[in-house]
Amino acid sequence: ARTQVAIIGAGPAGLMLSHLLHRAGIHSIVIDGRSRDAIEQTIRAGILENGTVDLLTSADVSQRVLAEGHRHDGIELRFEGTGHRIDFADLVGRAVWLYPQHEVLKDLIAARLRDGGEVRFESTATEIMDADSDAPRVIGTGADGHLLKITADFVIGADGSQSIARETVTGSRTGGHFREYPFAWFGILTEAPPSAPELIYSASPHGFALISQRSDTVQRMYLQCDPELDPASMSDPEIWDALQTRVGGGLIEGPIFQRDVLRFRSFVAHRLRRGRAFLVGDAAHTVPPTGAKGLNLAVADVLLLSGALQSFYETGSEAHLDAYPERALDRIWRAQHFSWWMTSMLHAAPDATEFDLQRRFGELHSVTSSRAGRTYLAEAYTGWPLATF
Ligand code: DHB
Repeated sequence: ARTQVAIIGAGPAGLMLSHLLHRAGIHSIVIDGRSRDAIEQTIRAGILENGTVDLLTSADVSQRVLAEGHRHDGIELRFEGTGHRIDFADLVGRAVWLYPQHEVLKDLIAARLRDGGEVRFESTATEIMDADSDAPRVIGTGADGHLLKITADFVIGADGSQSIARETVTGSRTGGHFREYPFAWFGILTEAPPSAPELIYSASPHGFALISQRSDTVQRMYLQCDPELDPASMSDPEIWDALQTRVGGGLIEGPIFQRDVLRFRSFVAHRLRRGRAFLVGDAAHTVPPTGAKGLNLAVADVLLLSGALQSFYETGSEAHLDAYPERALDRIWRAQHFSWWMTSMLHAAPDATEFDLQRRFGELHSVTSSRAGRTYLAEAYTGWPLATF
């Protein structure tokens, strides 16, 4: 097959890029090894920045986000038995939306199919060839089991944290700046009404807990845990007991129907471009989940890259393509800092000293008692303005 832009990965980054390119009159093919069902049903993130919602609605991807999503005008930080509200509306006049990632994906896939887009599910990319030429190729296996070859002007790696495109761009699967954390989150889905109107981030002496939501009838909650914890090793009553203890009680309990362990990593690839191959989304960077930046950062990358590709096709100039890595990295490193900061402020490492513990509570008091501190948190959480070319 031949296309202008071959996109590896039908996650939020790949599908949104394909959609934005279509609106600029640029043809693309998206391929992903997973089935449409698997993509639409995997439970991932839940929080959309203000700018992400604006883009979904203004680019005609989703009106559902406004009808079925829930606007949140703040969050609560809870520690030493007291809740401290970060009032986004008052501090920065912006909000976030609770709208699950798999709903965003349903909307994106529906929009691509509505517009005649080419999304090939169950088609696995194994290699990118000739990235340094002006006719790079993606080689893989199609849904029919036969060899798949796509020749394009550009190849985009939107293929997540296990990216194969990263090897082409950086020289190795893991080519980048890494940071690991000595803890993880044990996440559950439960069938119950929301326990509170907004998200609760609770730093307790027993470890961190996050009370999030998915809908009026399904809630998402997380417990700080050992990265090696086997999700099957805790009973439902043990999980509820741990959650209640860490937030000081008051949670509405229900049947737990999904459990998983999320590892915490920070990663930024050494390079985002080699020749005609580019990295976006988790292939380019990974953040720990605290602060919910992952999906939003992927959307920011592709908004920028779609503008650079559009300007290349309109003018023949590569100036904006050349500028993409530096422009994207500006936001990537700010989001890396914010995710690391929220993570470090709210979690104690297993080997934390009394000094470390007291320092964290000093920080939590500083941030919550100062309008400047709360404003920084609100600016970063609701999302910095999106950059475009
Ligand atoms: C969720 C995840 C986060 O990391 C976060 O900061 C807020 C919400 C969630 O999955 O709902």
